[in-house]
Amino acid sequence: MKIVVVEDEKIKRITLTDALLRAGHEVASYDDPLNAIEAIKEDNFDLVVTDLKLPHMDGLDLLKNLKAMRPEMPVIVMTAYATVDTAVKAMKLGAYDYITKPFSSEELLLIIERLKEYKALMDENKNLKKAISERYSFGNLVGKSKQMQEIYNVIEAISQREATVLIEGESGTGKELIAHAIHYNSPRKNKPLVKFSCAALTESLISSELFGHEKGAFTGAVKERKGRFELANGGTIFLDDVDDIPLPMQTKLLRVLQEREFERVGGTTTISVDVRVIAATKVDLLEKVKKGEFREDLYYRLNVIPLKLPPLRERAEDIPLLVEHFLNKYSKKDEKRAFSREAMQVLMDYKWPGNIRELENMVERILALSKNEVITPSDLPDSLFESADLRRDLHLTSILDRGSSLEEAVANLEKRLITLAIERAGGNRSEAARMLKLKRSTLQDKIIKYAIK
Ligand SMILES: Nc1ncnc2c1ncn2[C@@H]1O[C@H](COP(=O)(O)OP(=O)(O)OP(=O)(O)O)[C@@H](O)[C@H]1O
Ligand SMILES: [Mg+2]
Repeated sequence: MKIVVVEDEKIKRITLTDALLRAGHEVASYDDPLNAIEAIKEDNFDLVVTDLKLPHMDGLDLLKNLKAMRPEMPVIVMTAYATVDTAVKAMKLGAYDYITKPFSSEELLLIIERLKEYKALMDENKNLKKAISERYSFGNLVGKSKQMQEIYNVIEAISQREATVLIEGESGTGKELIAHAIHYNSPRKNKPLVKFSCAALTESLISSELFGHEKGAFTGAVKERKGRFELANGGTIFLDDVDDIPLPMQTKLLRVLQEREFERVGGTTTISVDVRVIAATKVDLLEKVKKGEFREDLYYRLNVIPLKLPPLRERAEDIPLLVEHFLNKYSKKDEKRAFSREAMQVLMDYKWPGNIRELENMVERILALSKNEVITPSDLPDSLFESADLRRDLHLTSILDRGSSLEEAVANLEKRLITLAIERAGGNRSEAARMLKLKRSTLQDKIIKYAIK
């Protein structure tokens, strides 16, 4: 890589430059940010590594300038421990990463390696977007909407990489399914995928679950126990409801994300693991950061690759495909069942607060409750209609949509009402005639006229 180093302290500048040169990079180093800016204007660099405390210009201002000049160019900032706040500010301004002083050159080289991966990933993603025209499914994921296509592309691109993924989506949008897809498409697929939900657990419980404990660490710890991070070694850990981790625990998690190191509860030996982290949340995590309920630095560590799952109501065009998928899943063997156009329209109009999980349960339930081969709106539970009026209107609009004359439309409605009454009467025509306040003979005539079976 072609790297610019900005550091005003001479010894540090030289050490850093040497280390980068030895690792095979090309380096241009400056003590004055203004000179660095001049050089970057002139030439194409891959990366800037800059100190935050500089003469003539604050490191953050330098960052702003660089982002304005070359938005795509990554910047790594170096900061003293006492100014981690500034580092977070830098991340917000678009820095790629930060490193706290003092650091070893290996640490910086590691970040640069990760950056190389990240760049390769972004390029690959761009190419994929061009290459993949339209796909209706990815593994167990179904959907052909623009949003889903985009998600398939990202999964494809990131599976081969190590980067941490943060999946954000309402309940039932498929977060866990996506974590599966990423893991089982990755080189780690033969190693474990360990799941852990952080929802509503105390700090000490999360600690001993994630990191394990030594024998006698607390009352009840009769044997040593491995935590989820150890069990996931070589594979992937899926941290569900990560937003629910108590603040003190977030600090410990941050360390694991940064160094892949921890101690068991009650233990002193440091354990190193090789684990890929995928986290999921139902809430807007950045909102929690703003409210001070979630550590900002942890947020940035988790949010390396953000994956936002849209709620089902924002991609209603996927509903027919999903329904088809669940019909196949829940129909008995050799049974061919389908939803009528009108019934499908009801499913597409409904808001699905429980998203795909609710749709799946609903299809299963409808199939169990109705014996009709073709499911019509009358087979659907009332909860799917926003109001009784909508249900009535739907019947009417579907008649109008066919472009019938009033006479035909009324006849059609009459036929449907008679059919419904006979169904409700369990096939008893006298009972149906009473329901409709018709003479039995009149009903009989109409049954023949409309060829009602
Ligand atoms: N794109 C999809 N295609 C097919 N099935 C899906 C899709 N997305 C989700 N599902 C199914 O919907 C159900 C819910 O998915 P999942 O458990 O992954 O959601 P979640 O976002 O983790 O939900 P929660 O937030 O409640 O934990 C599962 O049965 C899953 O198989
Ligand atoms: Mg889930």
